Parts: sequence; structure tokens; C-alpha cells
Amino acid sequence: MAMMLQRFDISPVDGSYELVIGETLTMKPVGLRIRAERRNLSTGMPRRRGPAACKEPILRRVPPSTDRRPLLILYGSNRGTSESFAKRIGSEAATRGYAPVVAPADGYACGVPVDIPFVLVTASYEGLPPNNARRFLAWAESLPAEYARGRPFAVFGCGNRHWVQTWQAVPKRLEAALAKAGAVPVVERGEADAGGDVLASFDAWSAGLWGALATALGGKLDGKN
Ligand SMILES: Cc1cc2nc3c(=O)[nH]c(=O)nc-3n(C[C@H](O)[C@H](O)[C@H](O)COP(=O)(O)O)c2cc1C
Repeated sequence: MAMMLQRFDISPVDGSYELVIGETLTMKPVGLRIRAERRNLSTGMPRRRGPAACKEPILRRVPPSTDRRPLLILYGSNRGTSESFAKRIGSEAATRGYAPVVAPADGYACGVPVDIPFVLVTASYEGLPPNNARRFLAWAESLPAEYARGRPFAVFGCGNRHWVQTWQAVPKRLEAALAKAGAVPVVERGEADAGGDVLASFDAWSAGLWGALATALGGKLDGKN
């Protein structure tokens, strides 16, 4: 998987594909076909750069496919910290009765499915998004006001206070963009400082996430519908 992601820029064949989660022994997207475009290996960058070629912002609807409530956990990460936190949230979500999907944010750069709460975990680099969250940030900042009205979301940022001017720049921008579009943060944005105790910050934030999420989803203490 790591080699594939390093060598190819992966996108859905059908841009209007609606996520259907199939469950057998593992969870999988049903009927999802992908296009793999070879990256420029000399730079590691995708050949097509810049914001997503989305004609308009889309919040796709997901038909309920399981008795578990889907939870989308997106990350922006160059060095793996945010990605590992996203995966930890995914593991914890599964034990709490959710059907989690953990993915790089740019996998949803043309829209997050309607009806699914989402959690974002992202770093900042010189005030800019990590490589796999650039198009997602562009999408979020392109949303019209009230477009995502009432959508529950949560943001956790990995940063370093050493970057004084741009400390947590990307998590802040994402939070602001989504709030402007009417989405509702279920919990205060979390912050981890790579110069401090990152794990303790994450644990403290995620401890508050689950109750807040359950409250936002109707007061139930687990993820079941
Ligand atoms: C070159 C470089 C630039 C960075 N710029 C910022 C920044 O602008 N703001 C910030 O809060 N943290 C900044 N950081 C800290 C990273 O965001 C932090 O180490 C984060 O945990 C990395 O997450 P990742 O492993 O998921 O990529 C920077 C780190 C590096 C190495």
C-alpha cells in the first residue's frame, strides 16, 4: 500500500461514487473503482497539481448499509504522526460500535459524504497543508456559507510551537472553513505540540471526543444507530 501511494496518484473512476460499506471479515467499499496515475517519481509529486478539479462542492449522500454508524476519519500527514492518530481514532471507533473509514483527506477532496460525521487530524508545514490534505483544504475553503449546515465534525492538529506565526495554521483554517459552511464542531479543536507531550495532548482530546460525538449524534453512548 505504501509503495502504491508513493508511486501513484489514486482517485475514484466515478466522481459521483457514493460510499457503501460492505462488511464480511473486514470492511470494504462496495463497487468502488479507482484510477491510478503514475506520479512524477523524481519529485514524488502528483503530475496534476493544484486544487481539485471539482466543478462544485459536493457532500455526497451515503445509503445506510450497516447497523453501525459510519465515521469518517481523515488525515493530512507527511511524516506519519497525524496518520497514526487518525488510525488510533479509527481503532477506538470500531470498539465503540462505529463503522470507521480512515483515509488521507485528499481522498475526499471533492466532498465528504452527507450523513457521516467526520474527524480531521492534520499537521501544518510552513503554514501549508501536508501533501495529502492540500486539495481537501481547497475544497473546504471553497464551500459556500451554510452548505454543510449541521454536519458534525471534529479537528485535531499536530504542530510545533517553534513555528510561531503558523502554529496550527492548517487545523485552524479547516475549522474556520467548515464552520463558515455551517458544519458544527462537536468538541473544541485539539492541539498537539511536537516540542511537548504529543501523546498526552492527543489522549486528553480523544477522551473528550467520544462523549461529545455521541451527544451530537443523538445522545447515545456508542455509535449504533
Ligand atoms: C519543515 C517543517 C515545517 C513545519 N511547519 C509547521 C507550521 O507551520 N506550523 C505548525 O504548527 N507546525 C509545523 N511543523 C510541525 C509539524 O506540523 C509537526 O511536526 C507534525 O506533528 C507533523 O505531523 P505529521 O507527522 O503528521 O506530518 C513543521 C515541521 C516541519 C518539519
